[in-house]
Amino acid sequence: MARNVITYGTFDMFHVGHLRLLQRLRNLGDRLIVAVSTDEFNAAKNKKAIIPYEGRAEIVGSLKIVDQVIPEHSWDQKAADIKKYDISVFGIGDDWSGKFDHLKVHCEVVYLPRTPDVSSSALRRMARALDPEMIERLREVHAVLDQMVRNFE
Ligand code: CTP
Repeated sequence: MARNVITYGTFDMFHVGHLRLLQRLRNLGDRLIVAVSTDEFNAAKNKKAIIPYEGRAEIVGSLKIVDQVIPEHSWDQKAADIKKYDISVFGIGDDWSGKFDHLKVHCEVVYLPRTPDVSSSALRRMARALDPEMIERLREVHAVLDQMVRNFE
């Protein structure tokens, strides 16, 4: 019988930490289902992704290691999902260690090590630091340098 694995997350600005987690999870079974948090659910968590739900779900769903993407609307849908999709393993990064032990009555629960030094929050901070005014200044500096190089040639 196929071993179905499930995980949950926002997957904003998809990065190598996400990829490695999904690869490890896929290796724990035969099918991987990823529940991607909707923008409404994130708003309820006071989290705002840069990439809207449709884009995040499309990127995750395009990976060959991912068999199905479903929306994550709420904290308490997990038990019903585990039954509905006949899940053998629930897995998530170890930043959630111990937080989902109550699901052990339904299936195996694993916490996998996070990839160090990369996170969506850090990427969001970097993206937001590049405010439009700063980008405009960089363009001006670039134009001046460009002119200087031309004059020098
Ligand atoms: N993850 C990981 N290694 C990282 C970042 C995330 O293994 N460096 C895992 C998380 O533990 C989670 C999944 O990827 O199981 C989705 O995490 P998500 O919260 O979407 O990504 P983060 O980069 O942790 O986002 P944020 O900074 O907003 O918490």
